Amino acid sequence: MTPMLDLIRELPDQLRWAAALETPEVPVADAAVIAGMGGSGISGDVAAVVAADAGRRVFVHKSYDLPAWVGDELVVAVSHSGNTEETNSAIDAALARGIPLVGVATGGRVIDRAGADGFPAVPVPPGPQPRAAFGYLAGAVLKVLEGAGVVGPQSDSLLEAAAVVEDLLDGDGPPIAAGIAERLVGRVAYVYGGVGVGSVAANRWKTQINENAKAPAAWIPLPEGNHNDIVGWTADPALSADSVGSVFLEDGGDHPQIRRRSRFTRELMEQLVPTAGVVASRGTGSLARLFSFVAIGDLVSVALADLTGVDPMPVDVIQNLKARLAEEQS
Ligand code: PA5
Repeated sequence: MTPMLDLIRELPDQLRWAAALETPEVPVADAAVIAGMGGSGISGDVAAVVAADAGRRVFVHKSYDLPAWVGDELVVAVSHSGNTEETNSAIDAALARGIPLVGVATGGRVIDRAGADGFPAVPVPPGPQPRAAFGYLAGAVLKVLEGAGVVGPQSDSLLEAAAVVEDLLDGDGPPIAAGIAERLVGRVAYVYGGVGVGSVAANRWKTQINENAKAPAAWIPLPEGNHNDIVGWTADPALSADSVGSVFLEDGGDHPQIRRRSRFTRELMEQLVPTAGVVASRGTGSLARLFSFVAIGDLVSVALADLTGVDPMPVDVIQNLKARLAEEQS
């Protein structure tokens, strides 16, 4: 078993860790901005889905600084390492503008600055890779939002997600994951999902295929993709037929029209692009359904790495780029 597969199998325990986390004492707010990048920033996308269900606003910021409109919102700076440049720039902006702030990190500058500048922080357990700490990071962000009163109590939905994921990761995992991985060998995965649960999960599939299988991938939200993406398969039929594989994530919570759009898109595309898989979400709550897609996508990414002889763990290109940026600054 690859070490990354071992880490993926920790996901239920990570979600249970978050469920047991005492509600953090943080400033109360009506809405929140989650600032974070990559494997950390996607926790903000999860939080936005949960908050939308509760009729509350969570905006996800994946860049430097903070948008000019941010004022009374709670800023949650989430960074696995604690050292990410863009996330620390958002902290600079929040401190300079007197915006309420909370950190979520394993350590690094976020935790150091929380101590020095006096803002609350939730430490998450250390681990080798941000993307393998998704349960910790998303769970901690949700608990911060619970503490702020942006969303209601999260423990039950975290426990439901843990149970659904545990079931999916049992044994060798569902055969669908291995089948999708086989059909994606030598192809660029195009992962489609409805706005909300499906598209956040589709983004996670893309980034896991990128980082674990070291392969290109794309994620397309529906209905938006019906207004552009579907036109792109016709000019070069050989390219579409030989180089791409589509995956459809179909969530039970999707708007009925999105369900129909997903089916029609699949039927239209099947003549041009091979379908690598259709995955239905499991579970009742949004969080469980989202993490059910995540569990299968994580397995697909590692199986694809295995089939193509790639080590899923290192992401040297990301580390080298960060080091180069840091060098040029000093
Ligand atoms: O998967 C990765 O390593 C990246 O996407 C990181 O998560 C991203 O670079 C941000 O780093 P951090 O999660 O430490 O803030």
